[in-house]
Amino acid sequence: MSYVVGIDVSTTGVKAIVVDERGHVVGSALTQHSWDMPRPLWVEQNPDDWWNGTWRSMRRVLTEAAIDGRDIIGVGLTGQMHGLTLLDKSHRVVRPAILWNDQRTEEQCDEIRDVFGRSELLALTGNDAMAGFTLPKLLWVKENEPDAYARIAQILLPKDYVRFRLTGRFATDRAGASGTLILDIAKRDWATAILGAFGIEKSWLPPTHEGPEVTGHITPEAAKWTGIPAGTPVFAGAGDQAAQAIGVGASHAGTLAMTLGTSGVVFAPTDRPIVEPGGRLHAFCHAVPGRWHLMGVMLSAAGSLRWFRDELVPTESFDVLTREASHVPVGSNGLLFLPYLTGERTPYADARARGAFVGLTVRHDRAALARAVLEGVSFGLREGLELLSAAGVDKTCEIRISGGGARSSCWRQILSDVLGRELVLVNTLEGAAYGTALLAGVGAGIWASVDEACSATIKVKGRIEPERESTGRYEQVFSLYKELYPALRHISHELSRYAESY
Ligand code: XUL
Repeated sequence: MSYVVGIDVSTTGVKAIVVDERGHVVGSALTQHSWDMPRPLWVEQNPDDWWNGTWRSMRRVLTEAAIDGRDIIGVGLTGQMHGLTLLDKSHRVVRPAILWNDQRTEEQCDEIRDVFGRSELLALTGNDAMAGFTLPKLLWVKENEPDAYARIAQILLPKDYVRFRLTGRFATDRAGASGTLILDIAKRDWATAILGAFGIEKSWLPPTHEGPEVTGHITPEAAKWTGIPAGTPVFAGAGDQAAQAIGVGASHAGTLAMTLGTSGVVFAPTDRPIVEPGGRLHAFCHAVPGRWHLMGVMLSAAGSLRWFRDELVPTESFDVLTREASHVPVGSNGLLFLPYLTGERTPYADARARGAFVGLTVRHDRAALARAVLEGVSFGLREGLELLSAAGVDKTCEIRISGGGARSSCWRQILSDVLGRELVLVNTLEGAAYGTALLAGVGAGIWASVDEACSATIKVKGRIEPERESTGRYEQVFSLYKELYPALRHISHELSRYAESY
């Protein structure tokens, strides 16, 4: 039997899984890491933590699954997108990596729109300038840390730093590269006009590849750390959202992936690059060669529930909280939650958007608060879905849900009721790591194409149908929810500035 390894360099840890030729997961290991928030709006990580997590998880998964490293025929990488990792000419890390959820670059986003033109930017890169993307972070370093900027010899995304440690080669995938704001999404390569406008050297950027392409091979040094033999091919893989979509079988138009992870994502594969004129959705290359996708990203989805649990009821499990929430009526007894705990991207690209509970009374207990969180996040996903439909995505496409939040039957039902749509659960649970293992499997020749890999391995396991009465009641609550952001925008901006001022 031959195997492929999928590695996910996520915000919270590095997961390594081993998948056999039939698509069965035979082992999984996770090494957690943390992040720093040295100032309001900032989120940083040490790239060495990604590498240490990678070799530890790889070694552990081989031992636990009792697999001989020589049976591994390929490694696929995925991971958190957008993060800025800078290396100097000796390949040393220049400064801590600035992550996707860091929101310090409001000014640089304005500057990018001014210099390049918002509609030109949208037409070329598929995206508006968003605070989490890579280019604004690079400009922030240029303007605020000129010494660090002067040392830059290479710009990498987080998983591509791990790729470098595994293979000694600089490379990236086109789905991940789409989140830099430096990619020409129609051409599927770096946008020369962006490089010129912002003074970025082409040599700082790695070559781009389609998901199933080989980008290098495990070096003898990396073999010693990971237990995977030198010479094993490492495939491009994909940014975590594209890999997650592959991991639930959303490889082609007609199937939509909805993820309730730390972030909340609606992801629709497309056959051509479709740009949403308002710039509220991301248009990226898909991990499938010659395909694209439209995507809406909420920054705090299951992350909102985690915040609620950790800060307000730290001794309680998610199971207990969601079970309690399931007994509260639709609309949480007149309580709304706005999930902008880390600013927002979709439907409002606003680093200074802030979360809120609105309508609180002494009658509201923790179960009502928890339900309001589940409903608020579901409303946010509905706004993303409505933007996708307005951009032309088929309103009858199948919605496949995944992510930690989708494990809760209460949350699944609320989501289905809020959307008024059937939701589909599939048999695969390992998300992005599984998706990138499939991409590696295609590259290594187990399957002839990504579509074939998905249909051979991913099966429908269950369906959640909306309850008509609840859906009707949510219409009313949703229309109130939509009024929250415009009503609170000014005060949210003022409060976020106030928090920065001391
Ligand atoms: C996608 C995005 C997040 C991160 C988190 O655009 O920002 O999903 O990739 O891992």
